[in-house]
Amino acid sequence: MSSINYSDKIPNNVNLSEDRTLQRALEQWQPNYLEWWNDMGPDGSQNSEVYLRTAVSVDPQGWAQFGHVKMPDYRWGIFLNPGEQDRKIHFGDHKGEAAWQDIPGEYRANLRRIIVTQGDTEPASVEQQRHLGQTAPSLYDLRNLYQVNVEEGRHLWAMVYLLHKYFGRDGREEGEALLQRRSGQADNPRILQAFNEATPDWLSLFMFTYFTDRDGKFQLCALAESSFDPLARTTKFMLTEEAHHMFVGESGISRIIARTCAAMNELKTDDTVRLRAAGVIDLPTLQRYLNFHFSVTIDLFGADESSNAAIFY
Ligand SMILES: [Fe+2]
Ligand SMILES: [Fe+2]
Repeated sequence: MSSINYSDKIPNNVNLSEDRTLQRALEQWQPNYLEWWNDMGPDGSQNSEVYLRTAVSVDPQGWAQFGHVKMPDYRWGIFLNPGEQDRKIHFGDHKGEAAWQDIPGEYRANLRRIIVTQGDTEPASVEQQRHLGQTAPSLYDLRNLYQVNVEEGRHLWAMVYLLHKYFGRDGREEGEALLQRRSGQADNPRILQAFNEATPDWLSLFMFTYFTDRDGKFQLCALAESSFDPLARTTKFMLTEEAHHMFVGESGISRIIARTCAAMNELKTDDTVRLRAAGVIDLPTLQRYLNFHFSVTIDLFGADESSNAAIFY
């Protein structure tokens, strides 16, 4: 179960070739995905060879294989963590019952909404970040950005697989809509506001990966407990990749702050004009970025008292 079939058009560890209808539907979605990547993925990156990790299996030895790849040739695929034997539901009215391998009719609409909303954030962040490659502070940062982008692309694949496999025609339509919405576009925006904000510079990216990917981690941790077992298994695997996204934010912000503090010590000043002239980002500016990204991210958790949260629990 954990080894990935790379001879299929779509790498997977879900025996895709045994379900021809599903395989065909996903193979029809694949060129549309690639078209989206070419239009909306990292700007000016299509021909560069990037040193990227690709998952070749979900076990600790195989989930991160490094090599040079051109990003449009990245092997996006469908990977689920192995199922836990006799997994039980841990929450709500069905607590103690066996986890669902299929979707009970009464929860279909809610599960669809959860999966679509999660899925929508993945391509959205790629769109938000698409121009940053042009202004990367270093090759190290550029590689990190591209690594995050290809993995967000794979996270979209993970959700589209669930939509296609478990939601029939509705799911296929949602899969198309996920490629049609655009971050920040007035007439067809992404679902959640944080994913419609601009990410115009690298300080924004580092704040985004520090805070918003951390929100992503909380959401994925919640989904990893889902009563719907395939959702739990796919999000568990996504979480292994999310750790690196937060690292990008944390290491980016720490490097900026360290450099600012060094300049403040050297020049014996906290004067913003002098510090900017010395080529560092002053603390009030950092604080403003932090306030913005923190607020926008906290909004993703919704209201303190929420009927949706109660239903989902
Ligand atoms: Fe993601
Ligand atoms: Fe992420």
